[in-house]
Amino acid sequence: MKEIRVVELFAGVGGFRLGLEGWQGRSASSHYTLPFESPYKIVWSNQWEPSSKKSGDLQEANLVYHRNWPNTEGFYHYPYDLNTVASPEFSDNQVDDLIPNHDMLVGGFPCQDYSVAGVNTKGIEGKKGVLWWNIHKILKVKRPKLVFLENVDRLLKSPTTKRGRDFAIMLNTLNELGYVVEWRVINAADFGMPQRRRRVYILAYHKTSNIKVNKPLEWIESEGVFATAFPCFFTDKVIDFELEKNIETLSNSFNEGKFLNAGIMKNGRVVMSDFKANCPKTSFVNYSLKNQLLGDVLLNGEMKSEPSYFLDAKKLLKETIFKITQPGFEIDQRLKRQGDVIELQTELDKWIYLKGRKSEERVSSKGKFYYKEGPLSLTDDLKKPSRTIITSEGGPGASRFKHLIDFDGELRRLHPVELERLNMFPDNHTLLGIANEKDVAISPARRAFFMGNALVVGVVERVGVELNKRII
Ligand SMILES: C[S@@+](CC[C@H](N)C(=O)[O-])C[C@H]1O[C@@H](n2cnc3c(N)ncnc32)[C@H](O)[C@@H]1O
Repeated sequence: MKEIRVVELFAGVGGFRLGLEGWQGRSASSHYTLPFESPYKIVWSNQWEPSSKKSGDLQEANLVYHRNWPNTEGFYHYPYDLNTVASPEFSDNQVDDLIPNHDMLVGGFPCQDYSVAGVNTKGIEGKKGVLWWNIHKILKVKRPKLVFLENVDRLLKSPTTKRGRDFAIMLNTLNELGYVVEWRVINAADFGMPQRRRRVYILAYHKTSNIKVNKPLEWIESEGVFATAFPCFFTDKVIDFELEKNIETLSNSFNEGKFLNAGIMKNGRVVMSDFKANCPKTSFVNYSLKNQLLGDVLLNGEMKSEPSYFLDAKKLLKETIFKITQPGFEIDQRLKRQGDVIELQTELDKWIYLKGRKSEERVSSKGKFYYKEGPLSLTDDLKKPSRTIITSEGGPGASRFKHLIDFDGELRRLHPVELERLNMFPDNHTLLGIANEKDVAISPARRAFFMGNALVVGVVERVGVELNKRII
């Protein structure tokens, strides 16, 4: 099998790497029980958390990454800001020297404002600090044959004031560099994976690669990498249009609207449609052999020694919390109410209130208003894939968005291992990091933060396998 050299940007704790390489020779889809042969080899990776006060080499994600994948002769993990190696301000030679040659660039990058201010001698001038321009710089200098990116699906309709402009700029710049680009919004749970996590996945094939797209519509409907990895049918009409070639004009006046959830761009021509997953439940086993529902990922006996995850329903709060509700508004019956005042006395009251329907009195500079939220179920359904994990999932405090489960009659939060399983990571992948050759324990809240940032590894694995069939 010919080796495919990969650079992993925005690596977090290595979701792309696990999907492409597997873990200790085993596949994510089998929860690391079955052998997995992979041509992909990460040769360089980068991760740095801007919100952390710690130096990059001491940041927890980097400690975890280093522990799982120590630097070797053929691999180096760079734990500092991407801007220090691939700034759009650097010369092409500098970037060429700092980043090794590779066949494929991968990463889950932030959704930011991609507008351009102009074109100068160094190239396109994007807004400072916008990481798309760092990726663009690497592609311009290194021209890897393949690119595989992940983002929130909002990217297809950003910004709100000029729907679709940011993605149009991305497509325009990739076209300029000689890439054909296909994208698809994939909800991992539609394909038998244990989390409802919708993300847009983007693949770009350079014209020098041996992946040739002759019929774009057929490619996205039935022949392409996404179409075979995630069978689908189109629900809506097909839209096609020519992208504006001048990047400044495109940035200032893109008016085609949002991009649909499946599409392709070849030579500046966009063909796209909306699709719905059409995956028979019987084939789910191909995507995730073991863990498909929230109930499948739960630790059982082990939780006896983890009391901090259980909710002491009767435990009184240090102080009663008073909330004022809109007069006549119906709230959860389990809460104590005196007229328009709701009294939250216990930890459980707080969870019920936060997850419940409300119309809460608040005051802004413009005066009094009612903040409204609809009802969510107090506990998560164990017979369904989980809701999306977000970065604030960890810690004991009550929250509207954290998962809460009914565990044999007791309420509890999810353990970091369960969160790892929901993203199809190996168990305890983030338990420890390494610093100065010593193991360092990672806090449960940090581990949950990583999982809120990460992706569902099975999606990447599936794409990697289909992609490799075409490269051969
Ligand atoms: C969406 S997360 C990707 C997570 C990853 N795919 C995983 O499986 O863990 C984006 C990552 O980019 C990192 N990041 C943000 N700004 C960065 C920068 N300037 N340089 C390097 N990494 C950055 C964040 O810390 C975060 O871990």
